[in-house]
Amino acid sequence: MSEQKLKIGLLGMGTVGGGVAAILERHREALSEKAGAELVLERVLVRDPRRPRAVDLPAERFTTEAASILHDPSIDLVVELMGGIEPARSYILEALRRGKYVVTANKDLMARHGTELLEEAQRHRARIYYEASVGGGIPLIRPLKHCLAANRIEKVIGIINGTTNYILTRMALEGSSFQEALAEAQARGFAEADPANDLEGRDAAYKLAIIAALAFRRRIAVEDIYVEGIAGVAAEDIRYARELGYAIKLLAVGEELLQGLALRVHPTLVPATHPLASVLHEFNAVYVVGDAVGEVMFYGRGAGAMPTGSAVVADIIDAARTMRSRIKDGIMETTFAPASVLPVSRLVSRFYLRLQAQDRPGVFAALATAFGEEQVSLDMIIQKRSEAGTAEIVLVTHDVIEERFNRAMQRIEACEAIETVNSVFRVLE
Ligand code: NAP
Ligand code: HSE
Repeated sequence: MSEQKLKIGLLGMGTVGGGVAAILERHREALSEKAGAELVLERVLVRDPRRPRAVDLPAERFTTEAASILHDPSIDLVVELMGGIEPARSYILEALRRGKYVVTANKDLMARHGTELLEEAQRHRARIYYEASVGGGIPLIRPLKHCLAANRIEKVIGIINGTTNYILTRMALEGSSFQEALAEAQARGFAEADPANDLEGRDAAYKLAIIAALAFRRRIAVEDIYVEGIAGVAAEDIRYARELGYAIKLLAVGEELLQGLALRVHPTLVPATHPLASVLHEFNAVYVVGDAVGEVMFYGRGAGAMPTGSAVVADIIDAARTMRSRIKDGIMETTFAPASVLPVSRLVSRFYLRLQAQDRPGVFAALATAFGEEQVSLDMIIQKRSEAGTAEIVLVTHDVIEERFNRAMQRIEACEAIETVNSVFRVLE
């Protein structure tokens, strides 16, 4: 980096890259002052240079050749906003090997290959920053690494996928269909290019792997996280949950228990009085409990061009300042030991269950017997309506270890009077 300029190579200029370019343009002078150098968007890698962009840049700044950024010694910082694993991983490794600093918003990559990238950065005395990979514009990585460092973190519970929270909110507040709400989340740039990762909970699992690693100071293998998406959440469940005093949210939960870490992503009934219940639309929130600080909640826009661009530009400024600083400490994450993650069958939870049963005497007794034989205690049981000889039954259990609940479910599914089990969701205390 020259004394006056920090040259940036941008890999990708779609939703987030457009936001970054817009912020760099909008606050050019103030940002340069904060960074201690003029921030220059030197070259931008895209697939199709003719596509219109959020910010007009001279045509010669665009390239389809990654090497023209990665091999250019005058480029100090590479900002990866392409998404996906390859070629993003190889490009970042190449940049780090050449001593360039890297900023990325790529949670898939950081969750699956973060250790490799951080170790490569350490080896080459470079840095990789990833604040935008979780929670869009919400500061989370730095607070977990630095501001809460005095604590033993007991749990992190987050709504960390904007697309699914947007869909669940639209279904709950406006009665929108799943497909309508998804189309809108896509049009507004919240969803991934392929929204399957959002809908099936994997995007939230990647983000949980990243924040749980920092919260519990462990290396997390993303395959160890139990994941369920929102496909099974029906309008009826949202309505019944509301009647019972809950909102349904896709939660990512990390807890440090005596026997190991519990890490899971699944739709959850959240009490209406809990702060996470009022997190709506594309907003995200992460609720952290530390032994010294108590409860802390981080809240803000979890997706979109400008919120995510805000976190990326903050990383660019941090990178610029660190490059100029003479003090360079090691990368904390490279010291983490592997986590021991508990199987979900050993965790304890309350459950919500919706099922269709024959509307005849003895059905409640059959349910009570199936649960009773597995010592699952019921908190609420309601027959919701009756149509053509079929009753809809909604029930909520008390705390139960999951393997015991699953055995009770096998008994229930085998009952002649039970026609279908529609939904099973966990309930947050
Ligand atoms: P996007 O809109 O799909 O943009 C991707 C950009 O990368 C496009 O400019 C595309 O070029 C370029 N690109 C992709 N593959 C390429 C390749 N092989 N060679 C050259 N250029 C390539 O994606 P996005 O929504 O901005 O997301 C970028 C990253 O940020 C992802 O990792 C995503 O998970 C993460 N993120 C997104 C959000 C959000 O709200 N969208 C929030 C937080 C984090 P063309 O334009 O020519 O096609
Ligand atoms: N697809 C992601 C979401 C983008 O909906 O949360 C932000 O990471």
